[in-house]
Amino acid sequence: MSSTQHVRLVEVGARDGLQNEHLILDPGVRVQLLERLARAGLRTIEAGAFVSPRWVPQMAGSDEVFKALPVRADVTWTALVPNIQGLEAAMTAGCREVAVFAAASEAFSQKNINCSIAQSLQRFEAVMVRAREAGVRVRGYVSCVMGCPFTGSVKPEAVAAVSASLYKMGCYEISLGDTIGTGTPAATKALIEACRQVIPVNALAGHFHDTYGMAIANICAALETGVRVFDSSVAGLGGCPYSPGATGNVATEDVLYLLDGLGIEHGVDLDGLIETGEFINAHLGRETASKVARALLAKQQ
Ligand code: HMG
Ligand code: MG
Repeated sequence: MSSTQHVRLVEVGARDGLQNEHLILDPGVRVQLLERLARAGLRTIEAGAFVSPRWVPQMAGSDEVFKALPVRADVTWTALVPNIQGLEAAMTAGCREVAVFAAASEAFSQKNINCSIAQSLQRFEAVMVRAREAGVRVRGYVSCVMGCPFTGSVKPEAVAAVSASLYKMGCYEISLGDTIGTGTPAATKALIEACRQVIPVNALAGHFHDTYGMAIANICAALETGVRVFDSSVAGLGGCPYSPGATGNVATEDVLYLLDGLGIEHGVDLDGLIETGEFINAHLGRETASKVARALLAKQQ
């Protein structure tokens, strides 16, 4: 890796993190969290999800969150949308970038969005058409890229096929989700090699849950294959409500420490982010899942 590199971080704690916490936070607290994340230097921030509140009650009130967020030219606030209904609600709330989410496993697709992979891709085609008309950018997620909680192993070729469909329909970036965190560096490299056959590597992002403690190692492997965009959650908040036992995304603090060590620029203030983690942990009554935050906070005592 050369010395002047830049990584773009997509902060997903306020969505992927909070959607899996037992305590449901008010939109007002979520807005405070999001403003702090922006102050710490994060520039792409997932702020909510326009999904069914029956399926994911933690994300109810995402419209209130978006309406309260400051308009900042330097910050992109994004939201998950599973269908046209979600896209319309997101746009009404002022959201200018959304993400659709597919899976590389049929069983997971059914559990998560109540339809097959093919049906989901049809729905997303309709979302893309409407988003394009309205000038809204769309990112694509693929879940279960290195394993499914219900059916086990998933082939890189299956991930590449779904990713290619999303990319072809107009998603500007495909985030590869290791939903259950079972991936290892060798599997990560095989995955990215398969995906880069059909999508330029600069349109791929890594989304690693840290369930097995492999996320940082997987990010290193992905960096070696040329990926420069990673999703992460402040304080390691997170999981997925339809993935039993899954824990949070890799902690953003841990990714910053890794990137600093590699001399890779990221533009985020680690101290500000640790304070933000403490803010949200206090609201949730939990401890940080970031090893870096834990180590640096212990030094302050
Ligand atoms: P369904 O029940 O099949 O939907 O759910 P439906 O179209 O039959 O509609 C049923 C009801 O849902 C209706 O309401 C609709 O209005 C409502 P009713 O008439 O019964 O009162 N509805 C909606 N409400 C609000 N917003 C919407 C919406 N659409 C329909 N957009 C649906 C299908 C997709 C809606 C549902 O399965 C759902 O909301 N799923 C979301 C699941 C979810 O959010 N999972 C977590 C995010 S994915 C993730 O975490 C993975 C990721 O991090 C990457 C990784 O780690 O792998 C991205
Ligand atoms: Mg996730």
